[in-house]
Amino acid sequence: MPRPLTLALTAGAALLARRAVRRRIEGSPLWPLPALAEPVSGRPRSRALRLTVAAHQTVADGVVQLQLEGRELPSWAPGAHLDLVLPSGLVRQYSLCGDPADTSSYTVATRLVPDGRGGSREVHEELRAGMAVEVRGPRNRFPLAPAPAYVFVAGGIGITPILPMLRAVSAQPGLEWRLLYGGRSRASMPYLAEIEKLGAGDGRVTVVAEDEDGLPDLDALFAGVAADLPEGTAVHCCGPEALTAAVEARVPEGAVLRLERFAPGASTGGDRPFEVELRRSGRTLTVAADSTVLAAVRAELPDTAYSCEQGFCGTCQQRVLAGEVDHRDELLTDAERAESMLICVSRARRSPLVLDL
Ligand code: FES
Repeated sequence: MPRPLTLALTAGAALLARRAVRRRIEGSPLWPLPALAEPVSGRPRSRALRLTVAAHQTVADGVVQLQLEGRELPSWAPGAHLDLVLPSGLVRQYSLCGDPADTSSYTVATRLVPDGRGGSREVHEELRAGMAVEVRGPRNRFPLAPAPAYVFVAGGIGITPILPMLRAVSAQPGLEWRLLYGGRSRASMPYLAEIEKLGAGDGRVTVVAEDEDGLPDLDALFAGVAADLPEGTAVHCCGPEALTAAVEARVPEGAVLRLERFAPGASTGGDRPFEVELRRSGRTLTVAADSTVLAAVRAELPDTAYSCEQGFCGTCQQRVLAGEVDHRDELLTDAERAESMLICVSRARRSPLVLDL
């Protein structure tokens, strides 16, 4: 996990947060980029492709970019990600950051997380050009919203899903957009040269390297958004939890917010144990206060699918037959939540919870 950006909060931001409006915007007549629209899918698809690592190169301090080659690859739109099946069997999600028009290769990038769960280390240290890897997808849980203007906020490697959005939006003459791109240092921030070129000379791009500039001034960014940009401006943010939470707290009234987090949403705290009945298996399990439904289920059913364990990939989605779910993901729609849950992060409000397993 990248080190979170540290952000200063103010009382003014809290006021803005209380006025924030979040609304669904699919089908909006304001949509200026129809070719890029891609509906948020329901259940994840499990299309598998065997690709070749054509290039493995360092594009910033601690960041490796992979170019994965194949033929007639499935199309994708900005915000989409791939499931990358690593040689060890670990599955990790990486945002596509290349050109959607390129049907012969996918490009992803990953930051090395030395104390992470092993996926980034394997990409950095064991994958090499010429090796074959399996991928699934692409899937898009973070599509570019239809809007009359755009604000993008990216923290560190969170620039990867934002970059194709920027390229698309900046190619539309007259379309207003702004970007705040933060990171620990300029050397650690991938794609910086291209991004600064996209916003050259017009002040649309603000780059904040903490070691030179201190903290990103989100209050100033959103004060400008509220003053200058129209109703319905879409705010897309990807980065560590501290950044996404700070953006969420500042989105001005009338704006539309879309977030992609590196980590699950905040815990409600005070977790308690509860029971889960696996109806088809005829078993009842106890989920400890400090554990997850996924862990309890896998202890009984080791083949139960999962991937990110952070509530953003959808792989662990299971049908709920009875019970009250404490949903803690940012992924499922209301309709999906009415009948299912992501068992890696969500819990039960009370026992028992009955799953179709
Ligand atoms: S394993 Fe990815 S959402 Fe649960």
